[in-house]
Formats: sequence, C-alpha cells, structure tokens
Amino acid sequence: MRFVLASRNPGKLREMQAVLQALGVEVVLQSRLGISVEVEENGTTFAENARLKAQAVCAASGLPAIADDSGLCVDALNGAPGVYTARYGGEGLDDEGRYRLLLNNMRGAGTRACHFETAISCVFPDGRELTAHGRCDGTVAYAPMGEDGFGYDPVFFVPRLKKTFAQLTPEEKNAVSHRGQALRAFAQVLREELEGE
Ligand code: IMP
Repeated sequence: MRFVLASRNPGKLREMQAVLQALGVEVVLQSRLGISVEVEENGTTFAENARLKAQAVCAASGLPAIADDSGLCVDALNGAPGVYTARYGGEGLDDEGRYRLLLNNMRGAGTRACHFETAISCVFPDGRELTAHGRCDGTVAYAPMGEDGFGYDPVFFVPRLKKTFAQLTPEEKNAVSHRGQALRAFAQVLREELEGE
C-alpha cells in the first residue's frame, strides 16, 4: 500500500520509511506526487495540526496521508513555545536566534523542566484516522552545548544521558527522542490497523 507523507523534508521521509518498511508500506513525499497544498497550522495542539495536514494531503492525493507536528514545551513558560516552536520570536530569527531567545526568556526561571512532543496523524480516504504520540522529557540547558542536530538541540538537555540532543549521535537521539518514540508508536498502530483489514 502506498502512503503519502505531508512534508517537503527528505530527512523525515527516510525516518518514516525506515520504520514502516517492515510493514510492506511504501511512503512518498507529497512533492513527488505534485501536491503543493499549504495548510495553515492553526490548531491548538500538535495532534490537531498533524491531523489538519494529513487531512488536506489525503484529500488532495486520494491516498492515505501521514503528517507529524512537533514542538518544545517549557514548564516555566506555561508550555510555550508549544505549537509556536518553529516560529518562536517571529519570522526574522534562525535556529540559533530562537534558542538564544529561549535562554533569555528563562532568566530567573524557578524550573528548567521542559519536554519535546510529537504527534503523528494518518488519515485514510475512507475517513479512518490513526494518531500516535511521543514525548521526551528534559531541561533547558544554561548555555548551548554540542554541534550536531538542528533547531533547539543545543539547549535541550537530557538529564539521564547528561548530554544535550546536539551532543548525541543520530542513533542515540532517535532512541530517546520524541520523534523516534512517536514513529515507533505509529508503526505499531498502523501494523494493527493493516492486520485488521
Ligand atoms: P516540526 O513540526 O517537526 O517541523 O517541528 C517544529 C519545530 O520544533 C522545528 O522547527 C524545530 O524548531 C523544533 N523541533 C522539533 N523537533 C526538534 C528536535 O528534535 N530538536 C530540536 N528542535 C526540534
């Protein structure tokens, strides 16, 4: 069965393919099918945003569609940046600008607890829907550490490993990350769904 991934990111396609390969499922990027729908991510939760994207791409392609949405939730900031993680601080900032803004906003915070969250949604043309979640708990580091990764990786510290995400190999990160956990949970619910067909 062929699934379309509501993303332009080849890295996300590789990750998705790697976990779904065992199910005999083929995953293609929406761009490969010439689909360019722009979805306004105006949901209030990661699951809502993932579902909005999956629904739009399913409708445009006529194929089952998979979408994900992730972000960082910081306790001392009442869960911010949350669904605004990608656009924290506005359009003008790059990854480093965003995590430096976060460090500034954490000055004097009573707790540095935070977590990354991912929701994956899959919508089928007949209306069936699947959802999976992943979460990784950590703390906001006091200063950036590590060179690898992207986004907020240099300031997301995993106490159990005593390293930031940016100090982990891709394999180490995948084993504990919100996205890795959501992908594995999604593979499990999709397997159950396909076995029931
Ligand atoms: P997306 O929904 O996967 O595009 O993630 C939204 C935003 O959250 C990204 O633009 C990143 O800034 C941030 N983010 C998500 N996952 C990670 C991660 O594993 N490390 C660092 N930043 C992340």
